[in-house]
Amino acid sequence: MRRVPPNCLSVKRMINKLIAPALVLLLGATYTLCAFAQVKPEILVEQRQGAMRLQGKYLYSLLPMAQGKTPYDAGVVARNAGYLDVLTWMAWDGFDPVTQGEKSRALPEIYKDPAGFKAAEDKLHTEMVKFVATVKAGNEANIKTGIVDLNKACNSCHENFRQKR
Ligand code: HEC
Repeated sequence: MRRVPPNCLSVKRMINKLIAPALVLLLGATYTLCAFAQVKPEILVEQRQGAMRLQGKYLYSLLPMAQGKTPYDAGVVARNAGYLDVLTWMAWDGFDPVTQGEKSRALPEIYKDPAGFKAAEDKLHTEMVKFVATVKAGNEANIKTGIVDLNKACNSCHENFRQKR
């Protein structure tokens, strides 16, 4: 076996202890970033549409309650509010400029006016925070108004940034 001089050994130890784990971390981080970058544009579109559809599922079933067309159900409202609180964060990173060539209802204005699009997203988050608090407070009339207000936040973005059918 080849003998390694002591100072060389300590350098080797240092490499093992410090540099190797750092390299693993660095490579790991790079790998993760690449994994994100590799998501295909058409998949991003499918995912954002999936998130939007689920928002629709859990909000549009509350709207008829708010309008008195179906019986008010506090349990369903509380459950859907919880789902929406999470769902309303999911679609946004799917509106990446790489998706501009894909077939979808996303208007080019999203990328021409990113600040306006972000403002519409933020409006939804603000309404969502209000809605969750209103649902917790438990006043049926206020909750019904909250459902309508939340829907307005969705629609005001759709009006400006989603292609009409
Ligand atoms: C900041 C803008 C914005 C907000 C806020 C927003 N949406 Fe959307 N929504 C869009 C855009 C843009 C599309 C079209 C996406 C596409 O075709 O890829 C869309 C599409 C949809 C669709 C159709 C999905 C499909 O598969 O075609 C539904 C349903 C929907 N949104 C529901 C909602 C609901 C419910 C809310 C509120 C809780 C909401 N959206 C909030 C921008 C928004």
